[in-house]
This record gives sequence, structure tokens and C-alpha cells, in this order.
Amino acid sequence: MADQLPTNIVIFGASGDLTWRKLIPALFNSFRKGRLPGELNVVGFARRPWSHDEFRARLLEGVTQFAADGYNPELWQRFAARIWYVQGNLDNSDDYAGLATFLSGLSDGPTNRLYYFATAPDFFVPIVERLGAAGLAIEDGGWRHIVVEKPFGRDLVSAQELNQAIHTVFQERQVYRIDHYLGKETAQNILFFRFANTIFEPVWNRNYVNNVQITVAEEVDVGHRAGYYDTAGVVRDMFQNHLLQLLSLVAMEAPSSFEADAVRNEKFKLLSSIRPINLADTVRGQYDGYCQVEGVAEGSQTATYAALKLYIDNWRWKGVPFYLRSGKALAQKSSEIIIQFQRPPHLMFDLVNANTFTPNILSMCIQPDEGIHLRIEHKVPDSAHETRSVDLELHYQSAFKDKVMPDAYERLLLDAINSDASLFTRSDGIEAAWRLIDPLLAGWQRENNPPIVSYPPGVWGPAEADELLARDGSVWRQGCGTE
Ligand code: BG6
Repeated sequence: MADQLPTNIVIFGASGDLTWRKLIPALFNSFRKGRLPGELNVVGFARRPWSHDEFRARLLEGVTQFAADGYNPELWQRFAARIWYVQGNLDNSDDYAGLATFLSGLSDGPTNRLYYFATAPDFFVPIVERLGAAGLAIEDGGWRHIVVEKPFGRDLVSAQELNQAIHTVFQERQVYRIDHYLGKETAQNILFFRFANTIFEPVWNRNYVNNVQITVAEEVDVGHRAGYYDTAGVVRDMFQNHLLQLLSLVAMEAPSSFEADAVRNEKFKLLSSIRPINLADTVRGQYDGYCQVEGVAEGSQTATYAALKLYIDNWRWKGVPFYLRSGKALAQKSSEIIIQFQRPPHLMFDLVNANTFTPNILSMCIQPDEGIHLRIEHKVPDSAHETRSVDLELHYQSAFKDKVMPDAYERLLLDAINSDASLFTRSDGIEAAWRLIDPLLAGWQRENNPPIVSYPPGVWGPAEADELLARDGSVWRQGCGTE
């Protein structure tokens, strides 16, 4: 069976940050937990003239920093013995022939192979083409999978072109488009929370939900990534992928099973039901000082913050506003999903705070203080009619004391090895997301509407984002991190 064959992972762009910080620490942790196939090799492919040992030494630095909890030298020695390095140019066909020879020398007979594209997006097509030309995509009784990092295109057309180029060499079932948010425990839990319980789904619709808010706030600024970021901006960097994926998980219908295509069919349906976004329902911001960062174009109009309102035109969500926001250089790192429920239809209590009465709010705390909070109204003890909002709180840290939260890449790499694509994006899902995002970006550029506004680093975004909700009588909620 293909599952029991030797498995070789080839990382293209192996000298880069991702390999060192994320991929190898994640694989090492899975190795430590005994979750990797018995016979496994990891082959780094990059330009630098490293020996196997130099490559291993570099990776060890990453493991001691990013997998420190589980590090022990003896275990590392055993894992490192399976790591190899092949020097090569990503666009040089001869170097792929060299890689093919090296790989066939690693194990006899059929093998499974995972090709991980940890490179700049410009190399995705050259790698695919050269893999194809070198015969490295041919399945010999073992599978061939590719894992493609983001960004997957920069608009609909380029994403379609990339899909087409990939599909000339690989079938869709072999393609794993990664979105690391889907590997986060808290994002994975959204479907469990909704569909492994009976009490939430009956109220998860327009009859009971007043609005939904998704915030992915980052305290860090653009840092050293200005070269990439200034050409992307927050909408391509965060909305097209992470925020829309979180939205899909919150709003999609129940799949008939957890099988990859069942899940992805529902996500696609959901993304396709989103009404084109009205430019008047968007805010774009840029933090003060962004234009002075090295690598940012003079007078850049790139948004480092965006907020928007959208509607999902289907039976479940018709008329319910979904507010999404994300940005850099904000007050703190915090990702959360808020489900704000309707007020009770009739308030019979003699409320002291009737005007500010807080409706029920369910907060799904994605990070950093992972958990679920439910705000309820409660009678204040020793009062006649006074109520107060209190939180029922679940914090992963206390509820799962015996567990260390794995990094998202651990789950995703294991799934790609185990041929489970349910946490990866399918080609139609990627394209549906771009179909929504393209007109928004084009509209911003064409009409300069709304104009970009600035915000000082360290706040929750520009005031215009508060006004976006105030127009509907709503406010941004923060329900997490209040233990
Ligand atoms: C990446 C973006 O996909 O996600 C970065 O390119 C962003 O700009 C990062 O900082 C956020 O990920 P996380 O896991 O730190 O929330």
C-alpha cells in the first residue's frame, strides 16, 4: 500500500526562513511523537553550496529555537540522519535531473514524494514545469504531492494561470495549497464546535445572529518584508486567504463528512454566495511611518489595514452583516471571531443599564489566548433586578493543561503526508476568493474610493472603521483574553 512506502519530502527553497523556522521544527515534533512514516527522508534543495552537515547544522539552530520543548540531542541525531541537501538552481533543468538521481539513490522501489514549494511565488511555475520534465511527477505506485505556499496568484487571472500550469503536470488531488490559518487548532475547532454540539447550530442563522465580526489584528508592522508587502497590501496578504477561510468555516453549511471534498464543496458554495462588496462598505488605512520604511515605494497607497462589511446571499445568512478587519501595527496581536446574537425580544427586567444592555456574544478566540467565551446576562447577587454581563470562559491553557499547542505546520505537513487535503484549499476555492477580492482592489485603485486614511501605530485602526459599524448601530467587540 502507498501508505507504507518510504516517504521522501523535498523542500524547494530550503535555505529560506520558512524551512528553518517552521517546516523542520514541525517535522521534528512529528518525528518525536512517532507520527511520521517509518522510512522518511527530507531533502533540501537550494542554491547555496552547503554540505549535508552544513544544512543539518543550520536546521538545528531552528529546532533548538522553535521546537525547544521537545528537543533532545539524541533524538535530533536520529532525525538529522534522514536529512539531506542537494544544491541546485530552481530554474535549471539539469539540477532537477541531479535531484532525481539523488532521490532514486535514497530508497529502492516505489516511494511517496512530497514536494514542498517554500520559495517566492515566481518560482512556482518553473518548479512545476521542471518536475514534470524530469519525470519527477510520475507516480510509480507511490504518490506525488506538491505543497504550494501562499501567495497563490495576485488576482483571479494569475491564480487561474497558476492553476492551469500546475494542472498540466499534476492532478488536483495531488495539489495541497497551504493556508497556515487552517492548521491552527482554534481554526480547526470551528467545525467541531459547530457540528459536534447540538446547541449552537439551531441558533446559527439570521433568526438569532445579529452580526458576525472577524478580527485578525497584528501588533507587528511590516518589518523587513516591505519589498513583498508593498506590492501585496493587507487585502492580498490576509483577506484573500486567512480571513475568508475563517469566514467560510464560520458560515458554511455542514458537510456530509469530514472528507476533503465534502468540506471543500461547502466552502466553495459559501464563498460563491458572498455578494460583491460595496466600496462604500470598506475602509482602507495605512499606519503613519509606513512610507518611510525601506523598500516601500514613495507615496505608496498600499493599505496596511482594511475593514469591510459583506453579506452572504443564502437562506441562512440573508441580511446578516459580516464585518472583517485586519491590519498591521495595531494595538495588540489578537485574532477572534465574534458571533453577536439578537437581543431578547422583550426585556421584562427592570434594567439599570437598558440602553447599554449587552446581547449574547460568542467569542471564538483564535489567538493568542486560545479559547471560547460566551457572554451572558446574569442577575447580580443581592440586587432585586440588576443584571450584569459575565463571561463563561474556556481557555485552552487551563482546559487542556496536558497538551502543548502544536504549530499549524505540524498538522498541515502530516495531513499532506497522509493524503488528507481537508485543510487545504482547492483550486475553485482560491478562484472564488479572488473573484470577490479583485473588484474591491480594482475599485479602490480606479475610484480612489474610499480614500486611504492614516492611523497611528498602536491603535485598533482608523476611526472610519468604527464609523462603518456605527452606521448600523454596532460596535467592534472584543470578547477574548479576559480571564
Ligand atoms: C502571513 C502574512 O500569511 O500571516 C503575514 O503574510 C502575517 O503578513 C502572518 O504576519 C500572520 O500569521 P500569524 O500566524 O502570526 O497570525
